[in-house]
Amino acid sequence: MQAEHISAKVGPQGIASPMALEVDRSTGRLNGASRHYEKHVQDLAGLYFDEVAFAAHCETHGDDLAYVVDDFRANEDEGLVVGTSVLSPGVVGREYAMTRGHLHEHAAAPEMYHCLSGHGVVVMESLGGELRVVEMRDGTVVYIPGHWIHRSVNVGGDMLVTVFAYSSAAGQDYGVVERARGLSRLVVRDGEGWTLVDNPRYVARDVAS
Ligand SMILES: [Fe+2]
Repeated sequence: MQAEHISAKVGPQGIASPMALEVDRSTGRLNGASRHYEKHVQDLAGLYFDEVAFAAHCETHGDDLAYVVDDFRANEDEGLVVGTSVLSPGVVGREYAMTRGHLHEHAAAPEMYHCLSGHGVVVMESLGGELRVVEMRDGTVVYIPGHWIHRSVNVGGDMLVTVFAYSSAAGQDYGVVERARGLSRLVVRDGEGWTLVDNPRYVARDVAS
């Protein structure tokens, strides 16, 4: 049975209508999304440790899409944002392609990822520097509790496609990652797989301040 598609997002009393959104399995894009966000490789200056390798990578791949996010929120009163993230594969120096990473502005807000395809890891770091890494493959559901910085890394050769859901009040704070010059560990290529190494640039946060 086909899911019913309801185009009207808001009913007469301002109440959102139930509806189905569909992920295009070939692209990972969310049909019916209300917002679209994308980053190209050249937008990610400062993200990777090996700046020489990044500059060289930009010469040939600078205009390539690094990641695309489609999300949906029925209206301003709805408390949930759902969407898809498509992270392109690649390596810069030894580091695998990744998102910038963020803490929620409302730090207690959790998030859910459901991997639809590809092979990735979610790197999570507390403000105190504790690190957790969860591997994602087709079907993996990752629960990201509040107060954990989170970043997705594509450690496979294909697009990493994930569905996410989080509170519309969460917000994103990217500065907490930038000020620390990344996360404490880098996800790098190790033969055909991946491993973690220390991030030499990392500046530990003063959690008391
Ligand atoms: Fe998030």
